[in-house]
Amino acid sequence: MPVSSRLGWAAAGDFRVLRATTGEAALMDNNDKKTPIWAYDGSLPGPELRYRRGETARIRLKNDLSDPTSVHWHGIRIDNAMDGVVGLTQDEVPPGGTFDYSFTLPDAGTYWYHPHHKTWEQMARGLYGMLIVEEDQPVAVDRDLLFVADDWRLNQDGLIDEASFGRIMDAAHQGRLGNWLSTNGLPEQRYTARSGERLRMRCVNTANARIMAFNVDRTKIQVHVIALDGQPVPPEELGADGLVLAPAQRADLLLDILAKPGDEIPIMEVSGREPVRAALIKLSDQAPLRAKPPKDPIQLPDNPLPREIDLLDPVELPMVMDGGAMGGLREANFEGQMLDIRSLVRKGKVWSFNGIVGKPLEPLGRITKGRTVVITMQNRTAWPHAMHLHGHHFQAVEKNGVLLKNEPWRDTLLINRSEEIKIAFVADNPGKWLFHCHILEHQAAGMLTWIEIA
Ligand code: C2O
Ligand code: CU
Repeated sequence: MPVSSRLGWAAAGDFRVLRATTGEAALMDNNDKKTPIWAYDGSLPGPELRYRRGETARIRLKNDLSDPTSVHWHGIRIDNAMDGVVGLTQDEVPPGGTFDYSFTLPDAGTYWYHPHHKTWEQMARGLYGMLIVEEDQPVAVDRDLLFVADDWRLNQDGLIDEASFGRIMDAAHQGRLGNWLSTNGLPEQRYTARSGERLRMRCVNTANARIMAFNVDRTKIQVHVIALDGQPVPPEELGADGLVLAPAQRADLLLDILAKPGDEIPIMEVSGREPVRAALIKLSDQAPLRAKPPKDPIQLPDNPLPREIDLLDPVELPMVMDGGAMGGLREANFEGQMLDIRSLVRKGKVWSFNGIVGKPLEPLGRITKGRTVVITMQNRTAWPHAMHLHGHHFQAVEKNGVLLKNEPWRDTLLINRSEEIKIAFVADNPGKWLFHCHILEHQAAGMLTWIEIA
């Protein structure tokens, strides 16, 4: 059955129409002062797209913006032609144009979608939404909640600070950090829950640049991490420092509500000097749903990925990361030409992989389908980076010379300053795949490369 008829979406034949358009968001506390944004179907976050594992998503992007755009389905091990990367896998979709995306969903989990054209501007304006792929069998939770965290740079009128788009100062530092947090498009999301309830909370960081961290009072709520970047992990109680999410990362949390009826549980963003209340879980006065929380956390069923990667005879790709403020980049190759740092800065390029800024003419590696690939990322910059590989999930297998075992499958990994991390994946998905920093100003200012699998 086409999903469009099942859920009553705006449909065109078999395709669910997704409009990239303008809208308004109640980002500020004062609800009659709305912020003009760009948004999918005019809503923030965009519509929740929900499928069952193995289904085929058929989505027609309709571009009702005045700028070209595209949609990238972040974290999906997707058919390359559907990956949405302008300049690599498709042409831009012009204003008024459409593009039909059709792809099957091999993995259950929490994914999301956003443009892949001038992403640093389009995502910051509000173009993003969740793509949920349900497990074959329903998971034993009472409810499923979304937690979509963003960071906005607003001016005093509560408008998006457009003047700061593309500023090289931001690009050379941590990226375009905002001054206003939102959860599900609100200054503070309010959830209602019942004492004793077991919830699945799907969290994503959609910020351009901010690495966020969330925490709650554990006497009121028990928290287990059950998936990262869509892929199940053995359930583990959330550490005392809380949940760190780099841009684009996701986590599925299992929440067991311990607090009493009528109580309140604030969810705090704790990465900054002052904790900020990002959301509030308000408990109803109803008697507890359960006397005690269920005994065991949930282990989600495996997706079709091996538990562990076979590291015999891999293709090894070194990747040295340089540049940015307080880095030592003197010169680099840009579009086939060696340029000194001043000329690079004039072109807005300040970061390099292996001495190349921006999308290289040649891929980082040309790989035969089926080979195992190990990329050694060496971060010689003074900044953390959120490295994202398209079309695959990967495992960290070594960090600063120490072998790692049973690391989670990820599509986006944080690498801190001076770290060296080896990641491994099986190149089983043919095509041209981007590998870039998801701090979007870093990406725009040079931090991207690609691999080709044939
Ligand atoms: Cu979330 Cu290259 O993208
Ligand atoms: Cu970066």
